[in-house]
Amino acid sequence: MKILILGSNGRLGSALARSWSKSTEAEIIPLTRAEVDLSDPEKAQAGLASYDFGTGDVVVNCAAATDVDGCERDRELATRINAEAPGRIARLCAQRGARLVHIGTDYVFDGMLDRPYAEEDEANPLSHYGVTKLAGDHEVLIASPLHCVVRVSWVFGPDKPSFVDAIVRRALSNPEAAAVHDKTSSPSYTEDMALWLGEFLKTELPGGIYHLCNSGTCSWRDYGEYAMECAQKNGIPLLTTSVAPLKLSDMQAFVAVRPPHTALDASKFARLTGITPRPWKEAVKEYFAHWRP
Ligand SMILES: NC(=O)c1ccc[n+]([C@@H]2O[C@H](COP(=O)([O-])OP(=O)(O)OC[C@H]3O[C@@H](n4cnc5c(N)ncnc54)[C@H](OP(=O)(O)O)[C@@H]3O)[C@@H](O)[C@H]2O)c1
Repeated sequence: MKILILGSNGRLGSALARSWSKSTEAEIIPLTRAEVDLSDPEKAQAGLASYDFGTGDVVVNCAAATDVDGCERDRELATRINAEAPGRIARLCAQRGARLVHIGTDYVFDGMLDRPYAEEDEANPLSHYGVTKLAGDHEVLIASPLHCVVRVSWVFGPDKPSFVDAIVRRALSNPEAAAVHDKTSSPSYTEDMALWLGEFLKTELPGGIYHLCNSGTCSWRDYGEYAMECAQKNGIPLLTTSVAPLKLSDMQAFVAVRPPHTALDASKFARLTGITPRPWKEAVKEYFAHWRP
């Protein structure tokens, strides 16, 4: 079996390539932007088609234009990378009899719901990033009943810094920290994701949309503060572990509108696999047990 990973230099793609190289017998083929550039969908399709894969193999698409404000600035490029290229890749995989596992986002929702979003909840993106990612989801799902869209949120892990690394690193030299408190979601630890996404390599799991993240809901402030506490307990000399609350409306530098409450409900995945994602605090604690500045 072959597993081709698009976006293998990214936070999630790197973790999958690293983890699956050790944990599966399958041949892992990591593909970076240099090998398959999604900004030219036709060339991306041809690039992927040059690899020998077929029935029983899996393509995992972790590549995306992930700069939410950047997508607002260059809408046409975001559309090509997040919507058109995944469509072409999905159709190529369908022709070859391979499953595509396409990574999606909580930003397809407007964040107005007072509970975690389930797969059947109506999407209503507020940003061009969300619009293009939702269009990509549709393109993937209509190409084959075997394909899966796995929506994740607030991705963190050892392969590329994210919000928690930034807030902890800043507290090494700055005694003041602040983060948005009226925006909530569910963190997704890439080491856990590698384990859970391994389930999609088995064909018994039906195609369709899945929500996948660590369990529980938190604000950016809760998430940052807990990360700082964990780092400090592990001997990282922080000048503070207290995070002042900011309002989303205070974030003047944001170009794109962010959805306020986008925690994801992973119970469909838990029901079909028997794997219940562990709480986000356990994952953050484990991550900072090994973290070094
Ligand atoms: N990060 C989050 O908090 C978050 C939240 C919800 C959903 N997601 C979704 O999760 C998936 C993985 O995100 P991530 O956190 O791993 O983001 P990431 O670290 O930004 O990785 C994205 C990858 O896409 C690649 N890429 C960008 N433009 C490309 C192009 N034109 N052609 C080919 N590859 C291109 C990047 O390549 P380079 O390394 O060359 O730049 C990078 O490897 C994405 O689908 C994202 O939408 C992420």
